[in-house]
Amino acid sequence: MAETQTIGIFGAGWVGLVTGGCLAELGHDVIVRDVVPERIDALQGGELPFHEPDLPEMLARNRGRIGYTLAAEDLVEAETIFICVQTPPTYSGDADLSYVWSALDDLPRTERRQILAMKSTVPVGTGEKVRAALEARGHENVGYVSNPEFLAEGHAVRDFMNPDRIVIGAFHDEDGAAVEALYAGIDVPVVNTDVASAEMIKLAANAFLMTRISFINEIANVCEAVGADVVEVARGVGLDHRLGPHFLRAGIGYGGSCFPKDSLALKQLASNSGYHFQLLAAVIEVNELQKRRVIQKLQKHLGKLRGKKVALLGLAFKAGTDDMREAPSLVLASRLLAEGAEVRAWDPVARPGELMKGAVLCDSVSEAVTDADAAVIVTEWEELRELASPEVREAMARPLIIDGRNLLDPEETRAAGFAYEGIGRPTSPFAALPETPELEPRIPQ
Ligand code: UGA
Repeated sequence: MAETQTIGIFGAGWVGLVTGGCLAELGHDVIVRDVVPERIDALQGGELPFHEPDLPEMLARNRGRIGYTLAAEDLVEAETIFICVQTPPTYSGDADLSYVWSALDDLPRTERRQILAMKSTVPVGTGEKVRAALEARGHENVGYVSNPEFLAEGHAVRDFMNPDRIVIGAFHDEDGAAVEALYAGIDVPVVNTDVASAEMIKLAANAFLMTRISFINEIANVCEAVGADVVEVARGVGLDHRLGPHFLRAGIGYGGSCFPKDSLALKQLASNSGYHFQLLAAVIEVNELQKRRVIQKLQKHLGKLRGKKVALLGLAFKAGTDDMREAPSLVLASRLLAEGAEVRAWDPVARPGELMKGAVLCDSVSEAVTDADAAVIVTEWEELRELASPEVREAMARPLIIDGRNLLDPEETRAAGFAYEGIGRPTSPFAALPETPELEPRIPQ
């Protein structure tokens, strides 16, 4: 069990609340500070601003050990202060650190030694800049530690409590040790290193995961051309212990709040330092093209998409979250609308609102697929495993399923009377579709 510390957290976003909730669960006293009054009000009332499994229960369970505030001065007693603010991309693709600098501006003053621990994903070199900024602001008693997070949305609580490793980059060993002590209840390897390397570990880990995804997506595209099945290929590749089975699911391309932003930030960081990161540039480009492949598949089956009704099933960037940031569904919907198709969109938790302007948002799968010319599985929600049912087949104008996540079994789906196409899998014969009379356009061009 860790010795109880008082922890401050800047930022009541997803990283801040998962970090705060989990540190409270480990027995620490936590105070989370945000600048948005409605957010603090909601949290004090027990409401979470996003969907993350197990987190509401964890925050409720530790209510006595976690508080929320607008006042940065309330963090004055904290021994460690985590920075968990957003670092969105700027126009140039660099990470925007303005929220980090505002947190520094708001840092309360105390005589005691405090440690600032960076959880936000930042470019390599940020630690050095923060250290200089702390000195310039007269915070000589504040130490700095890079302690990146490796949490994935949808199972962030599990990732925090059962991580693969804890990475701690410090300028002074004793600061690193103080942060390491916070995790005393968790038994995993700790990578104690310098600040720049810790910052790079986070960027490199994400870049590697993205590389695996774009790699398997390209293998999938080749599989389609040569008649192999990428699911089988990934299984065979992943059993090599030097490679492992993870992040080899071919699909519709990666999205989310991290990979797209972090890939640009790392590419930009390299290029600002005079290096052209060619492989990462290719990973990004493959991903952009992958999001659009579903359109070609629809065109292959339906011809012109003008006036066709397409059901987009699943809108969040992946299952287990309501996060719509950089979701492939957004690119798909806007490409379909641009082609003149009618988009009927459904998700069990994501509510895209204005982001999906022009699409009809449906309350159920059956509403979305009614009279549809095609159903596209965009997010791998469990409930979509049952999609190839007689009811859905009956409801659709044409029983065509494009499975952007390889969620369904191709043979079973075809046996259920659907034309089916996954990603990187042997394709359905066109003959499976009924004759398709040219429809009147439903949306004027
Ligand atoms: C990712 C990393 O997995 C975390 O380790 C990291 O901490 C986090 O970014 C971050 O930087 O904060 P996350 O974006 O929540 O987490 O989600 P992932 O589960 O990694 O999925 C990312 C994207 O890759 C999703 O669009 C997902 O559908 C896609 N993906 C994932 C694939 O297309 N194929 C796969 O095999 C795996």
